[in-house]
Amino acid sequence: MTAKPVEKLTSAEAEKELDRLAREIDAHDRRYHAEDAPTISDADYDALRRRNAAIEERFPLLVRPDSPSHRVGAKASAKFTKVVHARPMLSLDNAFSDEDVADFLGRVRRFLGLKEGEEIAVMAEPKIDGLSASLRYEKGVLVQGATRGDGQEGEDITANLRTISDIPLRLKGKPPAVLEVRGEVYMTHKAFEALNKRQEKDGKPTYANPRNSAAGSVRQLDPAITASRTLNFFAYTWGEISELPAKTQSGMLEKFREYGFTVNPLVKLCDNLDEVLKFYRDIETKRARLGYDIDGVVYKVDRLDLQERLGFVSRSPRWATAHKFPAEQAETVLEGIEIQVGRTGKLAPVARLKPVTVGGVVVRNATLHNEDEIARLDARVGDTVMIQRAGDVIPQVLRVILEKRPRGAKPYKFPDKCPICGSHAVREVDEKTGKVDVDRRCTGGLICDAQTVERLKYFVARDGFDIEGLGGTMIELFYDKGLLKEPADIFALTEKPEKVGRILAEHRAVLSEERRAAEGKEPVKTKGKKEEREDKVVENLMAAIERRRTIGLDRLINALGIRHVGETTARLIARHYRTIDAFMDGMKAENAREELESQEGLGGVVAEAICDFFAEKHNVKALNRLLEWLTVTPMAAPSRSSPVSGKTVVFTGTLEKMTRQEAKARAESLGAKVSGSVSAKTDIVVAGPGAGSKLKDAQKHNVQVMDEDAWLKLIG
Ligand code: IVH
Repeated sequence: MTAKPVEKLTSAEAEKELDRLAREIDAHDRRYHAEDAPTISDADYDALRRRNAAIEERFPLLVRPDSPSHRVGAKASAKFTKVVHARPMLSLDNAFSDEDVADFLGRVRRFLGLKEGEEIAVMAEPKIDGLSASLRYEKGVLVQGATRGDGQEGEDITANLRTISDIPLRLKGKPPAVLEVRGEVYMTHKAFEALNKRQEKDGKPTYANPRNSAAGSVRQLDPAITASRTLNFFAYTWGEISELPAKTQSGMLEKFREYGFTVNPLVKLCDNLDEVLKFYRDIETKRARLGYDIDGVVYKVDRLDLQERLGFVSRSPRWATAHKFPAEQAETVLEGIEIQVGRTGKLAPVARLKPVTVGGVVVRNATLHNEDEIARLDARVGDTVMIQRAGDVIPQVLRVILEKRPRGAKPYKFPDKCPICGSHAVREVDEKTGKVDVDRRCTGGLICDAQTVERLKYFVARDGFDIEGLGGTMIELFYDKGLLKEPADIFALTEKPEKVGRILAEHRAVLSEERRAAEGKEPVKTKGKKEEREDKVVENLMAAIERRRTIGLDRLINALGIRHVGETTARLIARHYRTIDAFMDGMKAENAREELESQEGLGGVVAEAICDFFAEKHNVKALNRLLEWLTVTPMAAPSRSSPVSGKTVVFTGTLEKMTRQEAKARAESLGAKVSGSVSAKTDIVVAGPGAGSKLKDAQKHNVQVMDEDAWLKLIG
């Protein structure tokens, strides 16, 4: 039986289908985990989950509390053993234009304190569009192969990787005793087409693109299936290594070749920006004939000593960037413009589009950014528009195709009232610059339901409290029923499981009655099995909330949803204050703002937003109420112990051996806190020539003062 296409389902059919899928997927999960006797292939199982997700995307209100989508990856993670990467597998910053590339090289040059015109050799490599893998060799023998996972922890897929002929089981030459080689597993166009033909012939689902099929192939439980699919591997970087056999990226790739790996034959050492950009254009023209997918070019500072000095920002190295190829585009019709109100009150216009496939993905919505953007595009409902999608970035509307504009299409008028609470929506003016903000924001604050609900959704989302089973629909439902107003209320739910159960049951009954009404049937009372299932859902939800009563400081800070404070910033703040008590005290202190601002990566805007948040009494009250439920675990000190870890350091005067930025980054990587002002809490002042008032402050507070050389000696 072929299932009805998702686009054609009525809401009633969708609800039925989601119920069926939840049960079917659950049964497969059970057979798989508990009984270890799966009755379905991986691909068919994935197809079920994909269908479930597609229906939920079309009918977001029908998402079930027990939907399998709340357990994304549950099966996958149980399938393979976890591997903690000895060194994290990082991602790359992106460049989209020649200017971005010039900026990248400029940043590198400034960080290293090089003079204008001083060139940096850069290794340029095609960016292979596959999936990255890490191969661990001990004494030249492959002992483990893992996927990237979230960068910290991947999955052990050794048996599958062993079947790839580009991956040597034993290395040639004289490799380091411990060597983790990292690179990309990919599938050529030829192998991809052959595989899909075979799948079709066997009546199995086909893959959308070579990347997906490579990913699907290495994550097969049965290595024989992986072996039957032609996969390839290019080596391009490394993780843990007992000794470096070369001093440059190009030298390392040469060594990889000696050890028996395949290195992409197109890699090229470039001496300056012009050569780099020439390489990019050259690869762009060759792209279609390569026989495998690439989605850009990667540039890496060639000298490893410079890489070491440059270090990392968040999860990407400062010494590399990915220059992406332009995104894929498609034409479709703008069927409507909807305004969504976010947690900060921002009115975000979303384009509702006639569904269109762009680069293998069906796109239904695109961002229109803001009021000015709609005006610039002169986008009108009914217009034919060109949209673009780049990687995992939200699709955008590029331009309107005026020739196709229907007669009578009216210019769009952006609302000046919040569509949810009716408060005025205004564009703030920056007092300092006099500039008008691009975003219009609802002024409703606490009285705006949309903002409150979005804040709560953000609070429980993945990078925040990550409460399993508590998704957006449920938050909305509990909010509507008066169960939730602020974060602490989420934990208070654990004291009223009956009420939660009743609300969920009612909700389900309403949905199902609506369905029956739509089908013209009499309402019925259902009892028994359904209630049992509801009980289980409530029980699981209570347990999931309970589990999150212990939370890391960084997650907590992120979850608060302070404007301009995302995951990375939250981590920086947590690293600085370490404990919740120190953080709360710090926010009460008079110099809170200066202290925040003195942290690398936290500018004035962020510091101000945080102080504004704490200046609001109701925020502090809500946070205190929340803290009554929580045990906040302190942020761990950096693992490398160094003579300066935990110390507060101030740099002043001119530094001669490195730039201020590098000095700061290095000190921080050794676990020191770098501050911009000297106080009694300062441990060391590093003073170069020309040091002034800070040096005096140091003497006043009796703080240890040293020059740059002494500092370098201290940190080794
Ligand atoms: S270097 C710290 N080199 O791109 C360096 N990555 O966006 C990390 N990729 O996860 C990677 N070709 O899967 C590097 N020549 C290349 C690459 C490459 C493809 C992928 C890789 C990585 C992603 C980062």
